[in-house]
Amino acid sequence: RRRIRIPPGLKEPPGPSSLPLIGRNLQLGPNPHLRLTALSKQYGDIFQIQIGSRPVVVLSGQDTLKQALIRQGDAFAGRPDLYSFRFINEGKSLTFSHEYTEVWRIRRKLAQSALRTFATDECRNSTHSCLLEEHVSGEAQRLVGIFTELTRSRGAFDPVRYIVVSVANVICALCFGKRYAHDDQEFLGVLSVADEFVKTAASGNLADFVPILRYLPGCSMRKFININIQFTNFIKKIVTEHYNTFDKDNIRDITDSLIDHCQDKKVDENANIQISDEKIVGLVNDLFGAGFDTITTGLSWTIMYLVKYPDIQKKVQEEIDENIGRARSPQISDKLLLPYTEAFILESFRHSSFVPFTIPHCTTKDTTLNGYFIPKNTCVFVNQWQVNHDSSLWKDPFTFCPQRFLNPDGKSINKAESEKLLLFGMGKRRCIGESIGRIEIFLFFTALVQQLQFEKKPGQDIDMTPQYGLTMKHKRCEVQVVHRFPATE
Ligand code: HEM
Repeated sequence: RRRIRIPPGLKEPPGPSSLPLIGRNLQLGPNPHLRLTALSKQYGDIFQIQIGSRPVVVLSGQDTLKQALIRQGDAFAGRPDLYSFRFINEGKSLTFSHEYTEVWRIRRKLAQSALRTFATDECRNSTHSCLLEEHVSGEAQRLVGIFTELTRSRGAFDPVRYIVVSVANVICALCFGKRYAHDDQEFLGVLSVADEFVKTAASGNLADFVPILRYLPGCSMRKFININIQFTNFIKKIVTEHYNTFDKDNIRDITDSLIDHCQDKKVDENANIQISDEKIVGLVNDLFGAGFDTITTGLSWTIMYLVKYPDIQKKVQEEIDENIGRARSPQISDKLLLPYTEAFILESFRHSSFVPFTIPHCTTKDTTLNGYFIPKNTCVFVNQWQVNHDSSLWKDPFTFCPQRFLNPDGKSINKAESEKLLLFGMGKRRCIGESIGRIEIFLFFTALVQQLQFEKKPGQDIDMTPQYGLTMKHKRCEVQVVHRFPATE
């Protein structure tokens, strides 16, 4: 452990006593979310473990997280300088880089504003309320066709293989104004890096803490570096095309709007801060990267829960039938009409907790939390999974029960319950794509369930055990669909 001077009256966070380096590390095991939740029961909401040469503070418990990430937001808003993070977006990522400065703040605002303008702001020349709704409706419609055809021609299929392309096409439309075919090999290659990415970028990846592990055979760090190069090159090619065809009177998408910001030097003129063009236009890399894997993973969990619980699927279908019918596609404004569907999605989020930890945080200054002293530059893991399975917050937390999110009359969402759910982080680093994520999953999900019934492949059990990572996936498995109102009807 590093030697630190604890100010009088304060304590160091408790934690398991020091064990030999590798012995201690191996204790994190294949499921760090379960292991660290078990340790929180033993040591409390704030405890410390040693990973390699680095102490890591692990935070759990709703109140403790609010205290740290909201009330002491600035002190806990940094990112640790982890080895793997240096290779993401060439070290200039808004999301992963160590930089927590005024430049970071301006870049975050710029990214938020570009997302709003091209996703959720009201849309004038369309029959849809916003571009996000327009793109998701189109992609969902195609997906219904693909799933129906796959069931006809093959019997059963792996839905994730197709969901990922549809979801990626939505963020691609917003960022780059284009979409790709479901069999485009270059696009499929770029999307296939997600599984490897989330394994390496997860909280507790040993190679980030024990340098020697990076060079051992079987360590995937080299692969991680290569997939980041591949990903960045893909984006760079599209950005170059945008520079070549840029017309400031016709801003086509998020990339154009970021280029426009560089050219007009509109960025925070008052603050007189210089930000390189690369760091502005490179934001699109963060947005594209964050915008497809999270939503794909969330949506595929909802499909797995449908297949696992056919009676619940029936209730969702009935609610959609009664309130939307068959004649039109679901819209964002339908959310209020579909409380059970919304409760089902929330329960899928809670039960799977598919983002078990936030991206690791880091203290930006010496600070105290609940009487414990935490020095500047301490790596902090935020355990979202623990909050979503805390029996002091949820009745029977391991039971899948959409009802828990409904008010007693069943006609609306219980706001207090839904606000306990923690999946997008909180405070200064809270996800900037939260509303897009929630809208997109709602629209894809309702459009699919409106038309299709999902069933498991006969004779195949579905394995819902999450595989640990920055986002956790279920095991890939095949499903089949029945079109609820085929064309001949
Ligand atoms: C950060 C969850 C969708 C952009 C995060 C974080 C979480 C998260 C847990 C880390 C918060 C922290 O470190 O404290 C999710 C989930 C999503 C989703 C569950 C979908 C269901 C999106 C989308 C976008 C996006 C669609 C953009 C198009 C970002 C960015 C950050 C972030 C840029 C970094 C923020 C920062 O470091 O300041 N997200 N996200 N996310 N998310 Fe999302």
